[in-house]
Amino acid sequence: MVKDDNKIDFYDDNNHDYRDFWVGRDYEHEAELIAFKKLLEGRHYKLAMDYGGGYGRLTPTLLEYSDQVILVDPSKKQLAIAKEKLAGLNVKFVQQQEKDNVPAEDASLDFLAMIRVSHHLPNPNPVFSEIARALKPGAESVIEIASEAHFVNRMRYLKQLKAVPSEPVAVGVHANGAEDDTPFVNHNPKTIEHQLEEQGLRVLEKLSVSNLRHRVFKENLPMSALLGVEKVAQRPLAYANFGPSIFFLVKKG
Ligand SMILES: C[S@@+](CC[C@H](N)C(=O)[O-])C[C@H]1O[C@@H](n2cnc3c(N)ncnc32)[C@H](O)[C@@H]1O
Repeated sequence: MVKDDNKIDFYDDNNHDYRDFWVGRDYEHEAELIAFKKLLEGRHYKLAMDYGGGYGRLTPTLLEYSDQVILVDPSKKQLAIAKEKLAGLNVKFVQQQEKDNVPAEDASLDFLAMIRVSHHLPNPNPVFSEIARALKPGAESVIEIASEAHFVNRMRYLKQLKAVPSEPVAVGVHANGAEDDTPFVNHNPKTIEHQLEEQGLRVLEKLSVSNLRHRVFKENLPMSALLGVEKVAQRPLAYANFGPSIFFLVKKG
């Protein structure tokens, strides 16, 4: 059983700046932008939430598809950076006080994005239930998970004649780089899909993201080639849950 306590302000660690995590990860960032835009193409929302939005890495992109964004994060530090970065944009900032809570009225949101947050949720079910509560009927959400079932891992499990666990798996690297007690788990996409459906969040589409994250590719291929592959492969590779990050587009009801 993966440890799960009530702490949610890990990103307030003064010894660490989450922006540093992205240094040298241009490929992963661009791959996520490709996926996010692909899923949001042709859509426009009135009120959207960037849940666990951090310093607002993806908020400007979300604003291209919405009139207003509420950026929610438990970390004061991330929110302070976001306020500076997003000054002048139509963004409202809310500090999340309680674990597993989506700070919004029932059926009030047209859209919610939750990217790179589920790896801090050893039990994501209560958050999925909160997302379902806060979305209007027919509203949509993009939920990203760090996948335990990516191709390289599947080969590792196969070598040990084991199946990929259906439960979350604790991984040894802390997402924010800090040597602290931040929970960091990978999920099984099949379990997540099931959990989403149980909350009435119907999966409309799935993308496999950062498919060439392995250093063999990153060190030997130019960025244009890496991203070219991402553009064409995210949809077909999703059928096999190939990549380390899976983006779900879901609809309430
Ligand atoms: C890896 S960062 C991702 C930030 C942003 N979504 C992005 O993709 O750049 C994870 C964010 O989730 C927030 N977080 C951590 N635990 C959380 C929880 N239980 N509920 C909501 N947000 C959480 C952190 O404060 C942090 O800003």
